[in-house]
Amino acid sequence: MKVALVGIFPSGAKEMFMELLPAEKFQIEIVDTQEKYDNLTDAEVIILRIFKINKEVIERNKNLKFIQKWGAGFDTIDIEAAGKRNIYVANAPGANAYAVSELAVMHILAVYRNLILQHEAMKKGEWTKNSYTDRSYGILGKTVGLIGCGSIGKGVAKKVQAFGATVQYYDAFRMNELEEKSLDMKYVELDELLKTSDIISLHLPLTEATRNLINKEKIELMKPTAIIINTARGGIINEEDLIEALKNNRILGAGLDCISNEPVQPGDPILEAPNVTLTPHIGGTSADLLVHMVPLMAENIINFEKQQEIKYVVNKEYFTA
Ligand SMILES: NC(=O)c1ccc[n+]([C@@H]2O[C@H](COP(=O)([O-])OP(=O)(O)OC[C@H]3O[C@@H](n4cnc5c(N)ncnc54)[C@H](O)[C@@H]3O)[C@@H](O)[C@H]2O)c1
Repeated sequence: MKVALVGIFPSGAKEMFMELLPAEKFQIEIVDTQEKYDNLTDAEVIILRIFKINKEVIERNKNLKFIQKWGAGFDTIDIEAAGKRNIYVANAPGANAYAVSELAVMHILAVYRNLILQHEAMKKGEWTKNSYTDRSYGILGKTVGLIGCGSIGKGVAKKVQAFGATVQYYDAFRMNELEEKSLDMKYVELDELLKTSDIISLHLPLTEATRNLINKEKIELMKPTAIIINTARGGIINEEDLIEALKNNRILGAGLDCISNEPVQPGDPILEAPNVTLTPHIGGTSADLLVHMVPLMAENIINFEKQQEIKYVVNKEYFTA
């Protein structure tokens, strides 16, 4: 079975896939440049990271049967086109939840303690010890509102609870009472969450239903001391509205790992927004992620080859047969 590793993978990933997918069954091809990708026509399985899979790629690879996405987000794949050709698309939710949830907490702390402003000032030899006291906060005693509460949201909940926060969540699928109780989380509707949370953190996919979910009208509901963290996807927040809110001090700040236009270009208005902490979509990017991610994906591919059930299929509803 021909498996194409498409995209840029952390070092060691290729070797780990080769170790876990036996050579007598799987021929692994490395497709790490656009040119190689444009010439790829015979993949049966694609393991995808960073690059995109559109209709054209699907049509070009006539033998393609299975796309395994690295990570949870699958908005870079035309899952409908894949489904209509009976190509399974699976993601790997949960494997990078620890890394993304840690990054979300890093953004909360960075925004709350004005880390970037303090760091930049001190690098210039300025002592800003008392400059930001009135806009510095701790997590202890705050209400954290999670929008989307799957693997990553639950990871954030656990961490901020350890800091002494209370957690409430909004999700398209409410947990049962027992689970809510065991995780010590309260379900609230979206508007209620926005009105009552000190820290709002997004952990849901970008879909047509969630695009611009956080817009001017929703920001208006937030407390003036609220902060918003987006480690999910750019596009879920209407960035123009967020920038305006930050400029007008309508909210305290924002921490963004994901922005609308990635990769960032010089002159992007988000770069001029005040009180914002930015990282270049690194939530699921760390050297130690391999050991969590690769075995889960390799197992799925082995099961697929054995015609056994594969996990985390995200496009079943589009299958024609
Ligand atoms: N920053 C990064 O590098 C990075 C890395 C991994 C994942 N992500 C993003 O984080 C998101 C969450 O990842 P996860 O592993 O927790 O996924 P998950 O599937 O475990 O959880 C997503 C949650 O969102 C909920 N949801 C879906 N649509 C919704 C809607 N319209 N309204 C409310 N809730 C909705 C789902 O019910 C689910 O509980 C991913 O979709 C991905 O976009 C970012």
